[in-house]
Amino acid sequence: MKRKAPIGFLDSGAGGISVMLACRKLLPYENFILYGDSANAPYGEKSEEEIKRLALAAAEKLLEKNIKALVIACNTITTIAGELLYSRLNIPVIGTVPALKEGKKLLKGGQMLVMLTPASARSQTMRSIMQQYGADAKLLPCPGLMEFVERGEIEGERLNNKLKQLLSPYKGENIDVVVLACTHYPFLLNELRKHFDDNTIFIDGSSETLKTLIFELNKKNILCNSEIQGYTQFISSEDNNTVDIMKKLYILGGGDEKSIID
Ligand code: DGL
Repeated sequence: MKRKAPIGFLDSGAGGISVMLACRKLLPYENFILYGDSANAPYGEKSEEEIKRLALAAAEKLLEKNIKALVIACNTITTIAGELLYSRLNIPVIGTVPALKEGKKLLKGGQMLVMLTPASARSQTMRSIMQQYGADAKLLPCPGLMEFVERGEIEGERLNNKLKQLLSPYKGENIDVVVLACTHYPFLLNELRKHFDDNTIFIDGSSETLKTLIFELNKKNILCNSEIQGYTQFISSEDNNTVDIMKKLYILGGGDEKSIID
């Protein structure tokens, strides 16, 4: 019974879909439900107390769906409320960690730039990740950027102007790796590439999240054992328009439209 229960994905909005898409590739038979708390987004510009409170309440929404595991598909929630969720929930909880460890391996003498939310940048977790893997990494908080993805605005002049403004301190710098440490940003990759050299590599934390998710499901013996395509469901604390944007982003990212249920 438990094996067929859905896996919950939690984010402050539509960004979690980038993690869900990475997981979908290797877990086609699992049922996925994403809860996006868009009504309270952006989390990345809130206090730690507020983020913890909202994250617990949002996780509660997914627990009501009898999920068998929770993927925190959000770097901000992971860095600030990760420990709290790991200790409070009695199902496997898997975070999405800013990918500095992987980024470090790709350096070729240039810099590592980490794009993230202001709250993640200030967090203790981020400080300890930096100490371990990237003392020289440059943190670039990007207030106002996730909102473009929330609106489904993933290309165009307004976005490019925003990126130009955010990235101006790094213009002309030798950047080997850009770590996308907010799950909304992978949707902006096409436009982001225009602001860097062709050799710059972009990475995010989703493949590590996927590895840990499979490990945890295996360990608990709760990997789905049927070979029927799993369903994909989107729930938002905002209106139906937000759910429509989520569906579009999922399909645009290569997700199977036929798997989506209401
Ligand atoms: N998607 C979230 C992350 O990965 C943050 C967006 C927000 O600020 O709410 O950090």
